[in-house]
Amino acid sequence: MSYLIGIDIGTTSAKALLIDELGNVRSIVAPDYDFSTPKPLWAESEPDDWWQATIQAIKYLLTEHNINPTEIAGIGLTGQMHGLVLLNKQGKVLRPCIMWNDQRSASQCDSITKRIGSAKVLELTGNPVLAGFTAPKIMWVKENEPNIYSEVAKVLLPKDYIRYRLSGEFYTDVSDASGMSLLDVSKRKWSEEMLSSCEIPREWMPEVTESPVASTRVNTEAAKLTGLLEGTPIIAGGGDQAAGAIGCGIVQDGVISATLGTSGVIFAHSDKYLVEPEGRLHSFCHAVPGKWHLMGVMLSAAGSFQWFRNTLGNEERTLEKETGVDAYKILTEKASKVSAGSEGLLFLPYLSGERMPYPDPDAKGAFIGLTLRHNKSHMTRAVLEGVTYGLRDGFELMRNLGIKPNQVRASGGGTKSKLWLQLLADNFDSQIATVNATEGAAYGAALLAGVGTGVYNSVEDACRKTIKVTAKYQPGSDKKAYEDFYPRYRGLYPALKDEFSSLTQTVEKHL
Ligand code: XUL
Repeated sequence: MSYLIGIDIGTTSAKALLIDELGNVRSIVAPDYDFSTPKPLWAESEPDDWWQATIQAIKYLLTEHNINPTEIAGIGLTGQMHGLVLLNKQGKVLRPCIMWNDQRSASQCDSITKRIGSAKVLELTGNPVLAGFTAPKIMWVKENEPNIYSEVAKVLLPKDYIRYRLSGEFYTDVSDASGMSLLDVSKRKWSEEMLSSCEIPREWMPEVTESPVASTRVNTEAAKLTGLLEGTPIIAGGGDQAAGAIGCGIVQDGVISATLGTSGVIFAHSDKYLVEPEGRLHSFCHAVPGKWHLMGVMLSAAGSFQWFRNTLGNEERTLEKETGVDAYKILTEKASKVSAGSEGLLFLPYLSGERMPYPDPDAKGAFIGLTLRHNKSHMTRAVLEGVTYGLRDGFELMRNLGIKPNQVRASGGGTKSKLWLQLLADNFDSQIATVNATEGAAYGAALLAGVGTGVYNSVEDACRKTIKVTAKYQPGSDKKAYEDFYPRYRGLYPALKDEFSSLTQTVEKHL
């Protein structure tokens, strides 16, 4: 029997799993680590913490069921995208990783965009330069930490730092590299023009390959530390969103995914390279060779519901302790009795600012339309509806680009709620499906490892053999009400945008 390992270097843990050839998860573990926010808008993490967690995780996978390391066919890597890891000539980490959720580089985004021109940036990379992306972070280090900058010899993304520790080599894959503002996403290679405009030497960049390529192998030192066999193939892998999409079978036109995690993601496979004209959707290479994907990321999805439960759900949390029934379940059951549109109560889910469709760190959450008739059940439903409308914003942008969905696969913690799945079906006017594979990016990375080592013939073959639809939800009669309420939601952000930014300034003045 061959086994495959998938490792996801996440924001707060290194999730690792072992699957067999049939795709059954045999072992899973997620040692955690912290990230720090040394200043407002900053987010940093220590690459060595990821490495220690990875060693611990691999040892666990091998020992839990006494797996012989000769049976490990390959390892697939995935992880948080966009993070900046800088190494010196000796391969030492120069500073903590500046993470995907770090917003410090807004002025560097502006200067790169002004220097190159926004239309040219979109043409070269398929995307605007955003503060979360990697290139502006490199510019930030150049301007603010010149001593560190002068020592840089390599620029790596988080999962590729772990590859370096496992193999001693510098490689990345096209899907993760797409989020750096340095890849020519249409040609799937580094953009010489972006690199030279940002004065980033080509030698700093790792080699870039397609995702299922076995680019490197476990070296002697990593073998000693982890218990893996020296020479075990390591597959290029993918950014967490692309690998997560593989992990629920988003590998052909017409199949889309909607993820209700802390953040919310709408993700469409595309055979063609497509760019949203205003750059409101990310246009990235997919982890399927020669294919692309479009993606919209909203920052607070199930995170909005979690905030609501924590802030206003005391009664339900006490009941959970007494009865064992989940507080979210109690809240959603009551919300399902409220009519579609929550009798005119709308919720804006911009609790951590927003990325799609409005890249605006100043955007804020709001309940709008409150009347004396409204109670907590209306508010709960409004939260679920507001997040659904936010995902629908991305879905509509995709439809405008000619994406014709015939199934939307939902995943993430929010899919425990049947009400939420039905809201997606009613709003997207499309079939919503859930699948058996629920382990996301780490699972997708393990499948990619199977493709790169010949266990499966292709990414499509891997998904066909392992991923099955478990439930389907069809659009129902509430669809009509949402046709009327969604435009009301759409009107709110443009009306409030300036007030949101004035509010930020007022708050800062009084801090
Ligand atoms: C994708 C993105 C997040 C991070 C962290 O664009 O920003 O998915 O990769 O999970």
